[in-house]
Amino acid sequence: MPVYLTVEFDHTTTLPVHPGTIKNLASVLLKLCGYPDGELSILLVSDQRIRALNKEYRKKDAPTNVLAFPQLEDFARVTGKGALLGDIVISLDTAGMEAQREGISVHHRVTVLLIHGLLHLLGFDHERSVKEALRMESEEEKVLELLNSEIRREKMINLAVNVDHVATLRQARGINEPDPVHAAVLCELAGAGGIVVHLREDRRHIQDRDVILLRQTVKTKLNLEMAASEEIIKGALKLKPDMITLVPEKRQELTTEGGLNVSGQKKKLAKVVARMAQASIPVSIFIDPNAKQIKAAKDIDATFVEIHTGRYCDAASDKERDEEFLLIAEAAETAFEAGLRVNAGHGLNYTTTQRIAALEHIEELSIGHAILS
Ligand code: PXP
Repeated sequence: MPVYLTVEFDHTTTLPVHPGTIKNLASVLLKLCGYPDGELSILLVSDQRIRALNKEYRKKDAPTNVLAFPQLEDFARVTGKGALLGDIVISLDTAGMEAQREGISVHHRVTVLLIHGLLHLLGFDHERSVKEALRMESEEEKVLELLNSEIRREKMINLAVNVDHVATLRQARGINEPDPVHAAVLCELAGAGGIVVHLREDRRHIQDRDVILLRQTVKTKLNLEMAASEEIIKGALKLKPDMITLVPEKRQELTTEGGLNVSGQKKKLAKVVARMAQASIPVSIFIDPNAKQIKAAKDIDATFVEIHTGRYCDAASDKERDEEFLLIAEAAETAFEAGLRVNAGHGLNYTTTQRIAALEHIEELSIGHAILS
């Protein structure tokens, strides 16, 4: 689908939206509006640039959020075939300010502006009359709703539930309930696509007995989180989970605090991956959203990376969260393009999961604490 995207926005270090995601979004919008083969050009610019365009073409010497330059001929409008729709210019400065004012992400604001611009290209014009303005507004709402259900339908991401904290509760009393094995059954019956447990070296929650029983009872997929330590590696080779996820492990931490430094220990980790490969156990590596770590994971032949979402979830402000989200979006695309399969997790809950789940290249989310809470 020919969507052309150009970014002319050079006065900040990080772009507030992810270009690949915006391009995919535009393709989906074209399909939803009945122009799957329509040709569209999108320009993401600064206020300065949109102001110049606004002055040149509309005689308005001020920045604006979106400009649309239709090219659509009547014939193409009727047939919907191979139509050259035109150009949409969006100011990321204005979109950013509007997003902040409305308390939404820049991505969401740009989505709404893209829909607005696209409807202009398709002949809608709110400046024509009040009636036309209402018609356009209702069409915008309709397209946004269609988009949301399309995202939900197309991207039914897999959910793997981490049941460690059921074991945490059991260990607090030193008795045999609640049982993480029972919890795993309930999660699977409720539709989970996988069960995750972290067998820590200090056995603070999940015990050897748990992983043995889970191996016998999990019907979906058992993912064993583990440190790359010899005792645990040997146990995993014997247990044969459906996959393992290598994580860093520190005795003092309350939970895993960050991704594994793969680039700093490639030789050691490559050996673990090779040993697992001999036992047909795919390896995932928990990493921060960082290109160097992705390359290292690829170099050592990992099958998956799991991108750490902790900093995105723990962000102290919307701005910080947006920045972390962009790092995750970029990392997911980079890893996918490098041929890795991509999972994500840590700290996700009702408010933080939706945006991550909508990322195109992520296959599975690993969520524990929020679900069990
Ligand atoms: N992914 C990894 C690698 C983890 O270590 C954990 C926590 O055990 C999770 C995902 C799940 O995190 P949370 O319990 O915060 O959902």
